[in-house]
Amino acid sequence: MQRLGKVRVAAPVPEIGLKILRDAGCEIALGGLDLSDADALLCLLTHRIDAALLARGPRLKVVANMAVGLDNIDLAEAQARGIVVTNTPDVLTDATADLAFALLLATARSLVWGDRFVRSGAFTGWRPDVGVGADVTERTLGVIGSGRIGQAVAERARGFRMNVLERSRRGGIELNELLEQSDFVTLHVPLTQETHHLIGEAELRRMQKHAILVNTSRGAVIDEAALVKALREGWIAGAGLDVFEHEPKLSAGLAALSNVVLAPHVGSATIATRNRMAEIAAQSIVSVLTRN
Ligand code: GLV
Repeated sequence: MQRLGKVRVAAPVPEIGLKILRDAGCEIALGGLDLSDADALLCLLTHRIDAALLARGPRLKVVANMAVGLDNIDLAEAQARGIVVTNTPDVLTDATADLAFALLLATARSLVWGDRFVRSGAFTGWRPDVGVGADVTERTLGVIGSGRIGQAVAERARGFRMNVLERSRRGGIELNELLEQSDFVTLHVPLTQETHHLIGEAELRRMQKHAILVNTSRGAVIDEAALVKALREGWIAGAGLDVFEHEPKLSAGLAALSNVVLAPHVGSATIATRNRMAEIAAQSIVSVLTRN
């Protein structure tokens, strides 16, 4: 088979992605970000693909990010260099929406606390006052960012007969109204200059004292130091977080709070979804290299 080009695969990805590249005639270089002789890069959201790195890839034609979010890539610089950038939308919508709902329920019903409580041997039998949490059914959910994932969360919420308030770039309810009226707020915006710290001290103070904030988008959409303060001082009741502002580091004080449920950025982490993401990233590379 004719050699299609050299692909730098920056980190281990599901085998199915590598197979697609190999079958198409790509030469694979595994690990790292050496782009000196690479025609394509398959990378993760944890790789910072900035102008300096792109400048070190004179033959680079495509960067395939195995993620839907593209905030780790300097898109303007890639465009200026004629490098195609691709992501993996759609295939992770349901898995991420499921995780957002899992965090919402786990936080409302103190599920992680309950697990620790039972394991510790402290559970001595049913009591009216143990593990009492908040209702989810028929409460109000504010969805900030009603794109694919936001809408999928809204769809799940309707199954819980929730009143859904939605806000997107294109319109919907005012942000302040959403924050003031919601029992739960869930974030589904991409991280951009406009959405950086979209939820800060002022916004947290607008939320109801019993409200719970869920974030499965990007950590820096929330001012995490302000969130720690809000949770510590009871401006809101809790938070379910899959992403962190300085990932993988947590802001000071966050891990010590009992009213948060923390997950290690696993929104898309199902076997089928991760396989599809690797497949799409590899197919994107093959299609760009084929037409070049
Ligand atoms: C995960 O966070 C993704 O952007 O795919």
